[in-house]
Amino acid sequence: MKENGLLRELKTLGRNGIYIEYEGQRYLNLSSNDYLGISGMSGLQEEFFQTLDMSNYLMGAMSSRLLTGNDVHIEGFEEYLSELYGNECLVYNSGYHANIGILPALVEKDDLVVADKLVHASLIDGIKLCASEFKRYKHNDYNDLERILSHNAGRYKSIFIVTESIFSMDGDTADLKRIVELKEKYGSKLYVDEAHAFGVVGESGLGCAHNNCLTNRIDYLVCTLGKAAASEGAFLICNKLTKQWLVNKSRTLIFTTAAPPLNVLWSKFIVSKIVEMKKEREHLAEITRLLRNKLEGQPVMGNTHIVPIVTGSNEACINLSEKMRNNGVWAMPVRYPTVPLGQARIRLSLVAAMNRKHIDNIYESIFDF
Ligand SMILES: Cc1ncc(COP(=O)(O)O)c(C=O)c1O
Repeated sequence: MKENGLLRELKTLGRNGIYIEYEGQRYLNLSSNDYLGISGMSGLQEEFFQTLDMSNYLMGAMSSRLLTGNDVHIEGFEEYLSELYGNECLVYNSGYHANIGILPALVEKDDLVVADKLVHASLIDGIKLCASEFKRYKHNDYNDLERILSHNAGRYKSIFIVTESIFSMDGDTADLKRIVELKEKYGSKLYVDEAHAFGVVGESGLGCAHNNCLTNRIDYLVCTLGKAAASEGAFLICNKLTKQWLVNKSRTLIFTTAAPPLNVLWSKFIVSKIVEMKKEREHLAEITRLLRNKLEGQPVMGNTHIVPIVTGSNEACINLSEKMRNNGVWAMPVRYPTVPLGQARIRLSLVAAMNRKHIDNIYESIFDF
């Protein structure tokens, strides 16, 4: 792995808002998913701690939700999300747990899963745990998706389409409206992962599906809380029967300790703030436009706050990452197998707490002014 430039190592970092500290140096952090800049809003953390009732133990749930780990906090959080989205809600301990625990519980042997070629590793792992066959359509290519659906309709009991709404490594968006139309035309089911859209997209930050009034036409909508929400966990928006089924069948819900009440309370607190963070979302869109305009003509992908610059080889990617680091910007190389071979890239994740000056710094760090 080392010879091929693929060896990964853990680094001990200090985090401080939009900066990280490493070996005594401070860097602008372009590799976090804290898209709204919540981790730097220290007042929020203080406000939250003042809401806590310390007479209850909040640090751990001590058992699975199906044993004694389910409490009023987690139920209250689900009810709150359920009202926001207008459907039932089921909380998981992480997006990874959701993605590897929902699909295998729903998909049966005589079903088919059809996923976008670029879905996240957690979705691939979930699909691999399904007893069914699995096909992939070309990234965001809905003619290809329709080809697969029309060819296979009637051959399987159910067909599950799987996509992300904003793709984590390409920074582009799926056309959810088109996918919903196809799923309805072919009587399929649809699973959408909004990990990189939750908090960021829409008037109240509830993601691409909500923003396009599609929530009720998507069977399984997963949002994660570890990215823009600066917390930990995930939730599924689905119908009542699906929720009931998953409580009985989803192994990552059943065979794991429930999230600590402290974490659940923070998640609920922060989501209630996120719905009001319109200004931050607008600013993020503004600095995204600014950076993308500056980078016009460069091999940049996508159209969102995730701005990947494709370098091709792993070596070129590592070199660019090192150059940026020498210029005070922390942007990790993303290499195979996270992205396809030969498509190594620097992935710049913008954060609403950055300003125009930071965007200039990023640009200059790439071109070594
Ligand atoms: C699209 C997508 N889904 C799910 C996950 C996993 O979420 P979590 O970090 O909450 O486990 C990620 C994390 O990188 C992701 O990018």
